[in-house]
Amino acid sequence: MKMKNQILFVLCSILGIATVNGQVKNLKLTKDFIQKNLDDAAQQIKVLAAETPNEKFPKTFENNKQVFSSSSWWCSGFYPGTLWYLYEGTHDRELLQKVEDKLPFLEKEKNNKGTHDLGFMLFCSFGNGLRLTGDTVKYKHVLVTGAESLASRFNETTKTIRSWDHKPWNYPVIIDNMMNLEFLTQVSKMTGNQKYYDLAVTHAQTTLKNHFRKDYSSYHVIDYNEATGGVIGKKTHQGAFDESAWSRGQGWALYGYTMMYRETKKKEFLNQARHIAKYILNHPALPEDLIPYWDFDKDKIDPSNKMYSKKDLRDVSAATLYASALLELSQYTKGQESILYLTKAETMLTNLSKTPYKSVAGENGGYLLNHSVGALPLNSEVDVPLTYADYYYVEALIRYKRLLEGQSVIFEITM
Ligand code: GLY
Repeated sequence: MKMKNQILFVLCSILGIATVNGQVKNLKLTKDFIQKNLDDAAQQIKVLAAETPNEKFPKTFENNKQVFSSSSWWCSGFYPGTLWYLYEGTHDRELLQKVEDKLPFLEKEKNNKGTHDLGFMLFCSFGNGLRLTGDTVKYKHVLVTGAESLASRFNETTKTIRSWDHKPWNYPVIIDNMMNLEFLTQVSKMTGNQKYYDLAVTHAQTTLKNHFRKDYSSYHVIDYNEATGGVIGKKTHQGAFDESAWSRGQGWALYGYTMMYRETKKKEFLNQARHIAKYILNHPALPEDLIPYWDFDKDKIDPSNKMYSKKDLRDVSAATLYASALLELSQYTKGQESILYLTKAETMLTNLSKTPYKSVAGENGGYLLNHSVGALPLNSEVDVPLTYADYYYVEALIRYKRLLEGQSVIFEITM
């Protein structure tokens, strides 16, 4: 820390406020609160770890049963990533051992060219590993190979990375795919290969043009014509209906554009993130506790629709994404706007850290949070814990801890 910042930090600490990058912020959550939740999470994840077979990856806990996946499932990086964050937040070496034991079972996905989810799978896991240990021998080559696999899915005509390969889609791109761009920009930085950065920026610009409605809510899937690059369809596969605002999709968008502003400093991405934040935070269907329903348009579902009886479910996974993204966005904005994002993230974190969302110790299969929704229209993972909700919750706790310590929320990989 430079001398001027150090003096400012000491002064602010005395006055009970923290300073970040020269900005002075009122932080209402205490160090004890954040640490208690990190410590609770570290104990809780050991329950899940004890039940997780070596070669498997936690997905959810449903009907009192653990559900695991193989390494090729899009969520396989979240459990190792959560272990890394909790190791960072508690220095508990048992967690370090657990993540080091798990990663060899995930490494082969670096060669997987059949999915766009390699950022989730490899950057949350090996990326955090490289960041926290600096061990380039163990982790860097996995990231570099994985980024090349992801880049192989870029198409010059659609100017996007393809999300899914299955029918009936032609060339589908989902809003979730924004999250995988950080993997490319970071590998670009660590290798000096400009190609990855350029692909990520192009994908984000195309998505900005085609995925959003006038009110800045996002469709879930844009289906492209691979030959012409034209848009064939605009759909919302996991939401209430095509024109609805699926809550987690808005979270992928908010986080994605905030992160892409950090990575590129392009104002168009910052403005997009601010518009998305406004859409979410001003929405009349956002409940007072700021844990969103699974879809902002759930009240427009017809009573004859099979989803109707479950329309009022919350999606905790969306709230965790909002909290983590808003903490970051608060750092790129000023004055009342910055304070608004910080305050909203604090409310989300406070409410996520208690009943009914936070698990009772030792219960819920060792997951940290309950009440997420995977895909209600597909009747899949409905009102359950989800591995990615836990990941982004712990990420938000760590980001907040860093703010309390006068550090940046940004996780730098330095080699
Ligand atoms: N990426 C899939 C989901 O958000 O459910």
